[in-house]
Amino acid sequence: MARVNGKIAIVTGGAMGMGNGCATVLARNGAKVALMDRSDTVHAAADTLCKEGYEVIAYQVDVRDAAKLKEYYDDVAKKFGKIDILVNAAGIGPQRTFLNVDDEFLDNYMAINFRGIWNSCKAAVPHMLKNGYGKIVNFASVTGVLVVDPGMTAYAATKGAIMAFTKALAIEFASRNITVNAILPGVVDTPMMRNTCKDTCPEDPDSIFNAIAAQVPMGRMGTAEEAGRVALFLASEDSSYITGIGIVFDGGNTIPETPGSGWEPNE
Ligand SMILES: NC(=O)c1ccc[n+]([C@@H]2O[C@H](COP(=O)([O-])OP(=O)(O)OC[C@H]3O[C@@H](n4cnc5c(N)ncnc54)[C@H](O)[C@@H]3O)[C@@H](O)[C@H]2O)c1
Repeated sequence: MARVNGKIAIVTGGAMGMGNGCATVLARNGAKVALMDRSDTVHAAADTLCKEGYEVIAYQVDVRDAAKLKEYYDDVAKKFGKIDILVNAAGIGPQRTFLNVDDEFLDNYMAINFRGIWNSCKAAVPHMLKNGYGKIVNFASVTGVLVVDPGMTAYAATKGAIMAFTKALAIEFASRNITVNAILPGVVDTPMMRNTCKDTCPEDPDSIFNAIAAQVPMGRMGTAEEAGRVALFLASEDSSYITGIGIVFDGGNTIPETPGSGWEPNE
């Protein structure tokens, strides 16, 4: 079923991982999609979807560059006539313990993960207001919103900021037919996750990957396409009365168990 038929979508971080999953699912459901990514593989990602018969264009751009984003979003609106959907999936995830986080590391984190979403919304919202319609989906994380781990102070801070911003933007435009929601992934099989496993254990990254997947209640990591289907819900009329929320997408990973109960069912 084409749930976003005729809609125009922009996806940041669309070259790979969950951004690419979102772009794929949106295109398969009838949207024309513009991919924004700093990686030069963004063009190949668009070609792959075009070969499947979808209308997808690519822009190589860094989300830290607010002026370029505005130029490219204006160009998308000129080409396709409007911007209906914005999925903000560009982000980074390196880990560093607090005392090793210097200003440069923190500033770069905030500039990409938080300010990148800010810049992207700044560039898209005027078009949505003109159009009287908008669906914004921001990738936050369970980290920093629901749970935290050592080595994640900078990452968690950006994700907490994204969730706070999502709610604040939602309230500002709730009466203008623009919804703003977030997705809070747990652990998802993407290049970011594969790189984290490689950094943690260069000799045997698969063992780390499998160990992380095994502790998820559902017994596996999420996929980029599954993330795309959550984004599709938030980007379609199926979520018409939902704004300012974060959907947890984690296979049950953050369901709290009773601390220390040691409870094991008999059967
Ligand atoms: N993979 C996970 O387990 C996981 C868990 C929780 C949250 N997330 C979040 O979900 C989002 C997507 O993650 P992913 O796992 O798909 O990552 P990924 O690294 O696989 O893909 C991210 C994409 O963003 C692009 N990108 C990075 N910095 C950019 C910049 N400055 N400008 C433009 N493009 C840029 C990359 O080139 C890449 O194509 C991120 O915000 C991440 O923090 C991921």
